[in-house]
Amino acid sequence: MVIQWYPGHMAKAKREVAEQLKKVDVVFELVDARIPYSSRNPMIDDVIQQKPRVVILNKKDMANLKELEKWESYFKEKGYYPVAIDAKHGKGLKLVEQAAIKATQEKFEREKKKGLKPRAIRAMIVGIPNVGKSTLINKLAHKSIAKTGNTPGVTKQQQWIKVGNSLQLLDTPGILWPKFEDQLVGKKLSITGAIKDSIVHLDEVAIYGLEFLKTHHYEGLKNHYKIDVPIEAENIEWFDAIGRRRGLLRSGNEVDYEAVIELIIHEIRNAKIGTYTFDVIKEMEV
Ligand code: G4P
Repeated sequence: MVIQWYPGHMAKAKREVAEQLKKVDVVFELVDARIPYSSRNPMIDDVIQQKPRVVILNKKDMANLKELEKWESYFKEKGYYPVAIDAKHGKGLKLVEQAAIKATQEKFEREKKKGLKPRAIRAMIVGIPNVGKSTLINKLAHKSIAKTGNTPGVTKQQQWIKVGNSLQLLDTPGILWPKFEDQLVGKKLSITGAIKDSIVHLDEVAIYGLEFLKTHHYEGLKNHYKIDVPIEAENIEWFDAIGRRRGLLRSGNEVDYEAVIELIIHEIRNAKIGTYTFDVIKEMEV
């Protein structure tokens, strides 16, 4: 589902999530492990403030594991509790509960000293569309909870889901907007499927993806398409080689560039060429 975010929606979403946050002890900030920085809401720190935070790097199965470790260190240094998981295949779910326990330990010790009874940790998931919030909720709940739709903010009529022995999770996530302003971020959001159309031009997204692979995974790219194009060749030569190799031709034996663009985006987005993390920490000012 494509959402159009307007300033009014953003303000409302922020307000609603802030309201829900009052009910929980810990926030699960869900991000895409392929773009752990670019898939964050630009105002997330302002929204979550000092509340204990578990940063869940989801879609680990499609990310570069070495880069992922660097992002985990980055989030740890900020005082958060990062965990990398693959919600779709149910991998790493136990880590979420364990991190929630660690993140709230101090708070519960304080409560205990005050004589308060032990109780379950309350948590909610917050993130931009398509990072896997519904998938994770369903896996943690061991059942299928209807997707509420990517409507901004939080949908009403929430329930608590029991997760493991120590956790209760709100069954509806807080949905916030991605970073729109930066062109490069837009391309990263598009190549990973966080935003599917309209906001960026698909030819630019395909070129971004191609250049990323040329720079970081040149051999893998050539091997995948079984082509031998010099690294310094123009993008159009790569498009031609890929189009011809895959038989994406129009009448007159011309390469069908639209089809090549779609193919490249589809194959990168679905990790068909390899598993990549597009937010490369040493290339970013974070
Ligand atoms: P949202 O609630 O945050 O909007 O995201 P949602 O759970 O709907 O997930 C968005 C897409 O990401 C879904 O794919 C989902 O299957 C996929 N996904 C979620 N977690 C993971 C993961 O850990 N690894 C991988 N590889 N994919 C994940 P879809 O194509 O939209 O739907 P479907 O074809 O899977 O049904």
